[in-house]
Amino acid sequence: MKILIKNGHVIDLKTKLDGVYDILIEGGKVVEIGNNLELSNGDVIDANGKYVLPGFVDAHCHLRDPGFEYKEDIETGTKSAAMGGFTSIACMPNTNPVIDNEAIVKYIFSKAKQDGVVNVFPIGAISKGQKGEELSEIGEMKFAGVVAISDDGRPVKSASLMKKALQYASMFDMTVISHCEDLELAEDGVMNEGYQSTVMGLRGIPSAAEEIMVARDLILAEYTKTPIHIAHVSTELSVDLIRNAKKRGVKVTAETCPHYFSLTEEACEGFNTLAKVNPPLRSQKDVEAIIEGLKDGTVDIIATDHAPHHRDEKNCEFYSAANGMVGFETALSLAVTYLIKPGHLSLPQLVEKMCVNPSKILGLNKGLIEVGKSADITIIDIHDEYTVDVNKFMSKSKNSPFNGFRLTGTVCYTIVEGKVVVREKVLL
Ligand code: DOR
Ligand code: ZN
Repeated sequence: MKILIKNGHVIDLKTKLDGVYDILIEGGKVVEIGNNLELSNGDVIDANGKYVLPGFVDAHCHLRDPGFEYKEDIETGTKSAAMGGFTSIACMPNTNPVIDNEAIVKYIFSKAKQDGVVNVFPIGAISKGQKGEELSEIGEMKFAGVVAISDDGRPVKSASLMKKALQYASMFDMTVISHCEDLELAEDGVMNEGYQSTVMGLRGIPSAAEEIMVARDLILAEYTKTPIHIAHVSTELSVDLIRNAKKRGVKVTAETCPHYFSLTEEACEGFNTLAKVNPPLRSQKDVEAIIEGLKDGTVDIIATDHAPHHRDEKNCEFYSAANGMVGFETALSLAVTYLIKPGHLSLPQLVEKMCVNPSKILGLNKGLIEVGKSADITIIDIHDEYTVDVNKFMSKSKNSPFNGFRLTGTVCYTIVEGKVVVREKVLL
C-alpha cells in the first residue's frame, strides 16, 4: 500500500528539511520527498497546516510486561505510545522477572512483534535482578538486542560496580543509563525537601540525593572515558554539574521529563498522590534551570518516564502511594505548551530532543525522515488546544497529574514503518 502525505510542513534535521513538501511512502519506506507528488491508487493524507516530523523516540518508559500486566502490558503500552506520536520506545528492565538475561529480552521482542503497534527496544539491567550486587549478562543481552543498560527505578549503590558497568558496556558500544539517587539521603522521603514538604508535614527528599550521584557518575565516566546517560534530571545543580562535565569533554548525555519542566512540588498540595514521582517534583528555580539546560543543550533529550500504576496504588495515603505517572499521551502537548509556546525551544529543537538525540544515544537508525529509510512519521497540529481527559488514554493506567489541564498541540497521525497506526487522532 502506497501512502502520500501531502502539503505538510516537514522538518528533518539530518537532511535540513524545513518547509512544505509531499512524502511518498512505499513498502514501509520513504521513497520520495518533493512537491506536487501525485498518487492515483493509495492512501492520500492531507497534512496541510500540520507539521510532519520524524516519529518520536522515547528513551525511557516502563511497559510493566512481564510481571505487572495489571498496570500496563506491551499491547496497551505501545498503543498509548502511538497516541502520543512515539514510533520507537525503549523500555526499562524493572519488570518481574527483571530484564537481565537473553530469555527475557527475547520475550519482549516476541511479545512486541505479536501485540505491539510501535517499535519496542528493551533496556537490560546493569545488575542481576537489579540488586546492585553483580553485573548481569550484558554481552549476552547486547547480542539479543538490548539498546542500553540501566537499573532504573533503583540506583547502582556501589561505585565500583558502576565503574565496571561503564567499562563493560562501552566494550559493547552501549550507553549506561543512570538513575541517580543516594538512597541514604533520600531515606523514606516522599516529596522534594523544602518549604512545601514542611508545610505538608511530609518527609522530604533533598535535591542532594540526586546531585551527589550525578557527581559520582560524572567522575566515573570521566575516569573511565566511557559514555553515560543521566536519566530524569530534576535539579538545578544536576544541570550545572552536567554542563561543566560536558565542557571538560566528559561523554555525558542527559534527559529530563515533561513533568520536570511543567510542574513544581506545589502539585503535591492536597496530598495529591498523582504528583508523587521519583525523582520528586522540585522548586520553581529547578524548573527554570531545567528549561535553561534544555535551551543551551546541556539536557539532550526529553523522555517520558511513562510509569503506569493501578488506581489502588495511587488511591491511598501519600506515604504508601507508588512513584510515577503515565506520560506518553501528554508528552507532546506539555512540550508545546511549556517550551514552544513561551519561546524556550523552537520546533526543530524539540525534534532534536524527542527524535534525533534519543536515537543517537540508543544507537538506533531512527529520528529522521529520509529517502530509503523506514517511514516512522508523526503528524502534529501545533495549534490545536484540548483538555486532558485521562479516561480517553489508551494506557491501562490513568495516573496523570495533568487530568483537566488545558494544553496545546495534538498528534494527528502516527505512522510506524509505513503503517498508519493513528489516523486523525484515532488509534486504528
Ligand atoms: O517515579 C518513578 N517511577 N521513578 C522511577 O525511577 C521508576 C518509576 C517506576 O518504575 O514506577
Ligand atoms: Zn528512574
